[in-house]
Amino acid sequence: MIRFKSVTLHYGGGDVVQEIDLHVRPGESKVVLGPSGVGKSTILKAILGLLKPETGEIYVQGHAISKLPEQELVKIRLGMAMVFQHGALFDSMTVGQNVSYRIRERQLMNPEATSKRVQEVLKFVGLEGALKLKPAQLSGGMKKRVAIARALAPNPEIFLFDEPTVGLDPINSYNVEQLILKLKTRKVTMMIVTHDVQSAMRLADTIVMLHQGKFIFEGTPEELKKSTDNRVRAFLDPSTASTLDSL
Ligand SMILES: Nc1ncnc2c1ncn2[C@@H]1O[C@H](COP(=O)(O)OP(=O)(O)O)[C@@H](O)[C@H]1O
Ligand SMILES: [Mg+2]
Repeated sequence: MIRFKSVTLHYGGGDVVQEIDLHVRPGESKVVLGPSGVGKSTILKAILGLLKPETGEIYVQGHAISKLPEQELVKIRLGMAMVFQHGALFDSMTVGQNVSYRIRERQLMNPEATSKRVQEVLKFVGLEGALKLKPAQLSGGMKKRVAIARALAPNPEIFLFDEPTVGLDPINSYNVEQLILKLKTRKVTMMIVTHDVQSAMRLADTIVMLHQGKFIFEGTPEELKKSTDNRVRAFLDPSTASTLDSL
């Protein structure tokens, strides 16, 4: 579904990631784990075609996206849904209008089917009653769930999550993780970026760990726990490692 071949990404200031390879298979839940500022959101931006690779190529559902013109990229993006770190709901719209936004914009369904779909995805996230509320009337956890419902509404093939539980209290984090796990049982392809080790362990089929512009680990949550790499150990449990030397 997603493949990076020797991809280097940079902004004006220098390389963020260097010659990284990544492969997300259909139905897989892949977590990119790493500290703040390491380049996780940048990787998502590149998958959406919002940042072109300096070198290498990114393939989304078989399409090499780096050379595509904008109108082709738009089509590729239709198959993907991004859940942003801070939800990014439209404040002037109701929950229902937010959730149906992509469907209406792309004219994917008639109004009757649209409202049925909105009900369905709001039920999925446990917010059937919130249809007519505005984002300002919602808690942080509810906003996140509406953002997930909005992403789900047009039935995308790939989900991209940027730090899905950051800033949420334990109960809301738990609820959002449960939703992601529910999506996982539907065999949706997901790429989740996070700095939260425990969350990564719970959500991932496979985890890749990003450290100073490179992936230094790839494997299952169990394999991550057993890793003997000092840099991985330092991140998993800063108290046991000679943190200052290895970071
Ligand atoms: N639009 C931008 N212009 C220049 N530098 C940026 C931009 N966005 C992010 N960066 C830099 O790229 C690096 C990676 O950022 P980011 O991908 O946001 O990290 P993460 O999501 O892992 O916290 C950071 O050093 C950040 O300052
Ligand atoms: Mg980020």
